Amino acid sequence: MTERTNLRLVSEGRAGLVRLRAAMGASPTFTVVEQPTGEDVGSAAVRLPDGRPAAADLGYALHRDPHDHGLAVDTLRALTEWAFARGARRVQVRCPLDDVDQAKAVLGAGFRFEGVQRGVVATAWGDADGAVFARLPGDPGDPIPPALPDLPAGGVGDGVITLRVATAADAAALHLEHVNDEALRWALTDPLPEEETAALAARAALEWVVGTRALMAIVDDETGDVAGRVVLRPVVPPGVADVGAGLVPRFRGRRYLSRALRLVSEWAFAEGGYTRLEAGVKIGNIASAKGVEGADWKYEGRRKARLRNRDGSFGDELHYAIVHPLHR
Ligand SMILES: CC(C)(COP(=O)(O)OP(=O)(O)OC[C@H]1O[C@@H](n2cnc3c(N)ncnc32)[C@H](O)[C@@H]1OP(=O)(O)O)[C@@H](O)C(=O)NCCC(=O)NCCS
Repeated sequence: MTERTNLRLVSEGRAGLVRLRAAMGASPTFTVVEQPTGEDVGSAAVRLPDGRPAAADLGYALHRDPHDHGLAVDTLRALTEWAFARGARRVQVRCPLDDVDQAKAVLGAGFRFEGVQRGVVATAWGDADGAVFARLPGDPGDPIPPALPDLPAGGVGDGVITLRVATAADAAALHLEHVNDEALRWALTDPLPEEETAALAARAALEWVVGTRALMAIVDDETGDVAGRVVLRPVVPPGVADVGAGLVPRFRGRRYLSRALRLVSEWAFAEGGYTRLEAGVKIGNIASAKGVEGADWKYEGRRKARLRNRDGSFGDELHYAIVHPLHR
């Protein structure tokens, strides 16, 4: 059975959806028609599992400009309205982990990030992990801002190194950074397999906007090569993050750790909304301790059995922190 229905326009939005087909028990599909031009700009679908209006899965593809944020937000809002009007008690989008534009649009349409599910996104290469975002009928639906603002175009730098959000292209360097004798000596766990490091790098931009982790590549300005990584992981309470870092062996011995930590703290306090950054150093990791102190982080004491070793034992931590200038 095929049905044609014009959906009403989303208030103040640009997207109007024309419903193309809705066979009983099947997933309705739509053409996304931009208003007021009437141009066909994409397609969309709502999947109601088993035809029951419990949790509806939304999907869309904009073929004119896949990165048109406003159009994507309007499309999602119209689909959501349609699904709620048919009794959906939950509307969700499962987004590929390397698609930060979609993640931003989904947040913009008021969907809350709920986590990562394994193997939920079908791709040409097989099932991939996906970020799950959902809206319930009682949610306000207001745009949810990204957890961290974008770094300036080109990153933040000091003339010697630049920090920018990691990408899939950094995977090999990030692997080199943590699979070497010195890094393994101070590691908390066994090294990640190379493909997991690659997956982490590919999802860094998405993790940036949902706030689970801020993974940055440290780039050597002279060569343009990736010299290492620095990562901010939010801890409780909001406004506090733990910071980790490491350098590719051939870039050690140049005090890049201190440079990177200075850049990170300046950005985190001025732009990132952070009040306090913390770092833990293992007893005996002198390059790390000196690097942290060289960035003006303060030693706050020794925490017992705070850091794990690769063999599963625990050792003490030298605890360092830097706080927002207002609190110094
Ligand atoms: C920790 C790390 C990022 C520091 O790299 P870096 O910025 O190149 O540090 P450097 O080698 O320039 O050394 C920093 C300082 O420590 C000193 N240092 C380094 N190794 C030392 C040692 N074994 N004994 C004494 N001093 C040492 C350096 O002389 C330098 O001191 P200075 O600034 O007074 O001259 C790097 O060694 C690394 O990637 N290690 C493996 C991963 C790791 O441990 N990460 C930290 C986890 S918290």
